Amino acid sequence: MFERSQWVWMNGEVIPWSKATTHVSAHGLHYGTGVFEGIRCYATSTGPALFRVEEHLARFFASAEIHGIEIPFSSDRLTEAITRVIRENDFNSCYVRPIAYFGSGSLSLHPRDCAVEVVILAWPWADYLGAEGQRRGVSVTVSPWRKFESKMMPTTAKACGQYVNSVLAVTEAVNRGFAEAILLDGGGRIAEGSGENLFIVRNQELLTNDASHSILPGITRDSVLRIANDLGYSCKIKALSLQDLLSADEAFFTGTAVEVTPIRELDATPIGTHTPGPVTTEIQRAFCAATVGQDERYNQWLYPV
Ligand SMILES: Cc1ncc(COP(=O)(O)O)c(C=O)c1O
Repeated sequence: MFERSQWVWMNGEVIPWSKATTHVSAHGLHYGTGVFEGIRCYATSTGPALFRVEEHLARFFASAEIHGIEIPFSSDRLTEAITRVIRENDFNSCYVRPIAYFGSGSLSLHPRDCAVEVVILAWPWADYLGAEGQRRGVSVTVSPWRKFESKMMPTTAKACGQYVNSVLAVTEAVNRGFAEAILLDGGGRIAEGSGENLFIVRNQELLTNDASHSILPGITRDSVLRIANDLGYSCKIKALSLQDLLSADEAFFTGTAVEVTPIRELDATPIGTHTPGPVTTEIQRAFCAATVGQDERYNQWLYPV
C-alpha cells in the first residue's frame, strides 16, 4: 500500500517515510488517544485537487478538541502541509491521512505529560471495497458487534481508539465472506458500516440516519445529500431499521474511502434488483463528476494542490 509514499510531514517538517517513526511508549499507541482524518485528492483536468479539505480539517480540529488534543498548527498550515506531501510524493490522486496523537512522556491514563505529535501521510488508494464492489455492489452482513453510543464515546469525533469497534466488526464480517459489516446502534436501529454511512432509496426518495443513531456524520454523506437535492430527489433523515434496508429499492454506502458504493445484498438477501439501481448509479456518477471538477456547481469543494 505504501510503496510509492516516500515523504511524510511530521511535526512541521517533510521527512523520508522511513524516518517517520514514533516511540513504542507513545500514549496514543497504548490507549488510542489520537484523532485522524481521511481526505481524498483527485486528479482533475487542472491538476490534483483536495476534496472538501476545509470541512475535513474542521472535523479534525473538532475531534481533537473533544479529546483534549491541542494541535499546535493552524488549519491553513495543515492545508499547506498536505499539499506539500502530495507534491513531494508526486501524486496526482491519493488518500491523505492527517493524524494527531499523544506521544511519549507518560503512560498514566491522563495524557498530561505527553506532547502532541501531528503527522500527514499520503498514499495512492483506489476503490477501498474493490473495483468490482464499486461497479456491481457489495455484499454486507449485520455485525454481532454494536456501534458504541455517544454516551460511551463521542461518535461524532474521529478518534483512533474508537476504531477498534470498526476493526472488530469488519474483521468478523470478512471472516464470514462478506465485504463489509453493518453495525446496529444500542437500540437495534442501523448505525453505519465500519467506515462508512448508509443510504437507502425507497420510491425515488433517499433516506439516511443521523448522529442520533451513533454515526460519524460523513462529509461524503453531506455531499451526497446536496447532490441528490440538486438532482431533484427528496431526502429524508430518519431512523433506519434492518427491515427498511431489506425492503429498500436500492442501498449504498458513502465515505471518503468508499466514495459511493452500492450495497447488493444483506446476509444473502438481495437488495432491490441485486444490482446497483438507477438512483445509486446516477448519484455515484454525479459524485464522481464533482470530485474531479467536471461539474462546476461543486468546484468550491475542490482545493488545488
Ligand atoms: C465510522 C465512519 N463512518 C462514516 C465515515 C464517512 O465519513 P466521510 O464521508 O467524512 O469520510 C467514516 C469515514 O471517515 C467512518 O470511519
